[in-house]
Amino acid sequence: MTHYEQLRQQLLNEPKTWLITGVAGFIGSNLLETLLKLDQRVIGLDNFATGFQRNLDEVQTFVSAAQWARFRFSEGDICALEACRRACDGVDYVLHQAALGSVPRSLADPIATNAANVTGFLNILVAARDAQVTSFTYAASSSTYGDHAALPKVEDAIGKPLSPYAVTKYVNELYAEVFARCYGFNTIGLRYFNVFGPRQDPKGAYAAVIPKWTAAMLKGEDVFINGDGETSRDFCFVDNAVQANLLAATTQNPEAINQVYNVAVGDRTTLNELYAELHRLLLPRRPRLRDAKPVYRDFRAGDVRHSLADIGKARSLLGYEPIYCVGDGLALAVSWYIRPMLAAHEKAPT
Ligand SMILES: NC(=O)c1ccc[n+]([C@@H]2O[C@H](COP(=O)([O-])OP(=O)(O)OC[C@H]3O[C@@H](n4cnc5c(N)ncnc54)[C@H](O)[C@@H]3O)[C@@H](O)[C@H]2O)c1
Repeated sequence: MTHYEQLRQQLLNEPKTWLITGVAGFIGSNLLETLLKLDQRVIGLDNFATGFQRNLDEVQTFVSAAQWARFRFSEGDICALEACRRACDGVDYVLHQAALGSVPRSLADPIATNAANVTGFLNILVAARDAQVTSFTYAASSSTYGDHAALPKVEDAIGKPLSPYAVTKYVNELYAEVFARCYGFNTIGLRYFNVFGPRQDPKGAYAAVIPKWTAAMLKGEDVFINGDGETSRDFCFVDNAVQANLLAATTQNPEAINQVYNVAVGDRTTLNELYAELHRLLLPRRPRLRDAKPVYRDFRAGDVRHSLADIGKARSLLGYEPIYCVGDGLALAVSWYIRPMLAAHEKAPT
């Protein structure tokens, strides 16, 4: 039995109360689904800035009525300290996911990104500290590696931030460290590397690459590759990130707390390879894709060129062991995107 399997068994036997901020978003709603399936009590906080009621509705369809009854949703903004205090009341474990993601969004509106990601983070940190929660796990980011060129990325070696978004995520880590030092309040930061999977939003200017390309291919629209396509990322299926959160929140290892961890697979995929794999997965559904080719355009400001995680620290201190490789995760993600789009496109020419 793996460490994660043991933990799941233990949680089933001893339900706890969890707070998920950003619960209506992509990662937050996947955390919700897993925790409810483990019979946990969950409080969710979200202001629907980039999350959706439909994500919560979908989770409801995947759990029993009794499991759904253990979920309490609170619509609120983490920029309001009182909303954070109410949400933290009686909570054992905080999983803080709420933030405005996306490098380009932060370049367009650094003030909004800073408000949610820095002020909001500080509010929830203070509320969780004052509520004396058992643990506080937060979504950090691989963008903190910035201009540090070394590969694979090891937690201790970071560079200068390349975007306002990266600044905010680094500030989270600094606050977390200072709260441990000044108040003895312990946290764990998870530096996610390009997480993907069901419920990741394919729409809008700030959509992530996998949902954006999948949606474009399904609609027969052009797929744009920024740069030469040799830019690479360590794409991580969302269930691996869920595993990391649960392990971090419940760790009993004193060496594991007040640390940040890479959360990834430890495998590098170029954008050209990603395009080819999505094309292969979608071709049986959309035969007209046979002759499709990506459109190459300029590199995007603020993007790092290569990203690959060393996941040894999460493995050794948290017992993290990613279950899904990139290929398996892409197949699962694509089948999710096909489902809701089928109805809308069944009349579309193939
Ligand atoms: N998806 C990735 O690849 C990735 C990579 C690195 C870090 N992260 C981080 O992981 C977390 C979750 O990201 P995601 O991909 O699920 O994004 P998402 O946009 O789907 O989810 C974020 C959620 O936070 C909510 N939110 C935003 N501002 C809020 C506020 N002020 N008050 C309350 N709720 C608010 C949104 O409505 C949304 O539901 C974020 O902190 C993000 O920065 C994600």
